Amino acid sequence: MEWKRKRNRRRNPLLREAFKMMKAFREEMPHCLFITNRTALLQNLPQNSVCAEIGVFNGSFSKEILNISKPSKLHLIDCWEHQDQNIYHCGHNKTNKEFEKVYKQVCQTFSQYKQVQIHKEMSINAAKNFNNEYFDWIYVDGNHSYECVKADLLAYEPKVKAGGTICGHDYANHSLAIDHHYGVIRAVNEFCEERGWNIVSLTDQPFPSYTLKKYKDIP
Ligand SMILES: C[S@@+](CC[C@H](N)C(=O)[O-])C[C@H]1O[C@@H](n2cnc3c(N)ncnc32)[C@H](O)[C@@H]1O
Repeated sequence: MEWKRKRNRRRNPLLREAFKMMKAFREEMPHCLFITNRTALLQNLPQNSVCAEIGVFNGSFSKEILNISKPSKLHLIDCWEHQDQNIYHCGHNKTNKEFEKVYKQVCQTFSQYKQVQIHKEMSINAAKNFNNEYFDWIYVDGNHSYECVKADLLAYEPKVKAGGTICGHDYANHSLAIDHHYGVIRAVNEFCEERGWNIVSLTDQPFPSYTLKKYKDIP
């Protein structure tokens, strides 16, 4: 099916840009593992873990986490609240009425799973609910601005166990990512540099997910 992929890439400008972006990442990060998609990412993470998804929306990825990772505890963290466009510039920034409906549906979907706990809170505030070194891994997918991603990474870093993993979505710099004011790459790169983490894998997708591991202890 390679010819089909090539034909789609030729026809779709976003796919063309994403292909170039991934090519550049491969050259810039020779030690990074490139994996197919988010399902593969979950398959590479430990099962039976304590984990969190920060930014849940309608819970479609949460369902994958439940099915693939089989966590012992899964915290779903989202404000499900409209934010000023200058603060949250994203297609997922719905009206409060729409968010209320989505939130109710998420509560309904996951009510049968005792291991799932839902936190309707801003991510930074929700971080205070957890003890240090609590999570085996987290997946950061809330507000994608530089400021918010950096703040999420810094707030949740101490909450992740030594040897644990930080993952997140949308490590992208193509024109659609720029249109949506994504600052994920800058925030993640700065965080890694300042806090001693490394990007160990990226998914090979137009909106890649990253996996970070800590490689040195910071005093
Ligand atoms: C891209 S969607 C999440 C998609 C989901 N992770 C998936 O893959 O199916 C982003 C979500 O983050 C939430 N969000 C945005 N800013 C937030 C913040 N500061 N704190 C908590 N949630 C936030 C939004 O309400 C939205 O539902």
